[in-house]
Amino acid sequence: MGMAQEKAHLPPVTPAPPLIVPNHLAPFVDPLPLPEIAKPIVAGRRGSAARYRIPIREFYAKVHRDLPPTRFWGYGNSVPGPTLDVRSGEEIVVEWPNHLPAKHFLPIDHNLMGAERHLPESRAVVHVHGAKVPPESDGYPEDWYAPGQSRNYHYPNNQNAALLWYHDHAMGINRLNILAGMAGLYIVRDDHEDGLNLPKGEFEIPLVLMDRMITTGGQLYYPISQIKDMPWVAEYFGNATLINGKLLPFATVQPRKYRFRVLNGSNARFYFLLLSNGLRWLQIGTDQGLLPSPVEVDRLRLAPGERADVIIDFSHARGQKIEIENLQTPLMQLQVSDSVVSDSSSLPSQLRPVPKLAEASAARTRRLSLIEIDNTVGEPMTHLLDGKRWHDPITEKPVLGSTEIWEFLNTTDDSHPIHLHLVRFQILDRRPIDVDDLVYYNKVTYVGDVVAPSPSEAGWKDTVIVTPGSSTRIIAKFEGYAGRYVWHCHILEHEDNEMMRPYEVVPG
Ligand code: C2O
Ligand code: CU
Ligand code: CU
Repeated sequence: MGMAQEKAHLPPVTPAPPLIVPNHLAPFVDPLPLPEIAKPIVAGRRGSAARYRIPIREFYAKVHRDLPPTRFWGYGNSVPGPTLDVRSGEEIVVEWPNHLPAKHFLPIDHNLMGAERHLPESRAVVHVHGAKVPPESDGYPEDWYAPGQSRNYHYPNNQNAALLWYHDHAMGINRLNILAGMAGLYIVRDDHEDGLNLPKGEFEIPLVLMDRMITTGGQLYYPISQIKDMPWVAEYFGNATLINGKLLPFATVQPRKYRFRVLNGSNARFYFLLLSNGLRWLQIGTDQGLLPSPVEVDRLRLAPGERADVIIDFSHARGQKIEIENLQTPLMQLQVSDSVVSDSSSLPSQLRPVPKLAEASAARTRRLSLIEIDNTVGEPMTHLLDGKRWHDPITEKPVLGSTEIWEFLNTTDDSHPIHLHLVRFQILDRRPIDVDDLVYYNKVTYVGDVVAPSPSEAGWKDTVIVTPGSSTRIIAKFEGYAGRYVWHCHILEHEDNEMMRPYEVVPG
């Protein structure tokens, strides 16, 4: 499958300042940091939710031993921010005060929707990706607030154990805010998962992947196009990948089973993760929780926004040094100790049933195209969902409690990771289509076989890779809350430039 990667047709960019050469940096000298677990400011008691307070602010942090500290805008004082670790069924309240400086340090494009010049530059709003929350706590892109302001958001956590993540969602500058560091993990746990006795505590390690362009001065760089007063570029690709905020970190592990919770928090990069000694990942979960049973994968593919829950068993790798690589590029090193240890954790062959949503239960199918609009020299200017822009009237209005099939028809040459807020869904299938028939005659012609989702995608998802020239179908039950949400491409440059639409769950 063709994946969005560096493309020949990216707009020309103005010369970048000198950037670091990652393979000239001393590798594996910094220990892998683990984001701290957020502590409530008021503990939860029966009938009252735990309260947290996580400020959005500027700080400096070292991404590598040999680089000066990097300026970030993020949550608390680290990138990723503090991890919210919560129980299913127990509501929490988080206050997210905006303490950012007034001026943005990355290039805002005022031509983009919702990014007009008169608006405060350092607006922010927090969304928990994958959380089932009422609309007023979902971080609607237009619900941003300026420095000096704050919001209390309620998270009911009525959902299965899963790795979610929180990140900025401010209209028109989302790509810049997340790039600046506004992202963190949100882990939901439940009794079912506890009962499986998976590796936990120090044997459960989060890995947050974010690629960045980093200057020789250690600073984040975001390129601009060569079009005057239109700095937007179609996709951001870094020259280095931060893992939990470090370049080329190492972690020492024991020769036993570990659970890794992996998030692709990059703007546009897809990862294909390998273990250098040929060891395989045992994938046990995806975006919205556990798979029915573990799946062996040798290349772990993650689009922006996607998560993978994996087990690695190091018991036969005593004393080895294993690199996690993205294709050929090393990202970090796992140093397996020589000690003899006991491992009482398990990896059950049955994890959690994922009952199939029946196609026959769908009230309707929506056909939604993905199109790219190019400028006169063939560079992408914008991408649209079903030919509509953000400010066009809402057209997707599923009834609360109903099930729908959404069929994405991708006429572009890129994969787009499409994400829906509020709901979890299942991938039904993918099938090649005749792109010309759709573009010129508005006709859907299938030109190949139906392809089932891969076993590692065959669980509950909230983000789906819609492959080029394909129909990709998902099925979702619109449960939880009525109100206004959004669906969008999770390539953040696309999302900020019209590849996002509101949708509304209407009461039945
Ligand atoms: Cu990861 Cu609209 O979000
Ligand atoms: Cu989301
Ligand atoms: Cu896209």
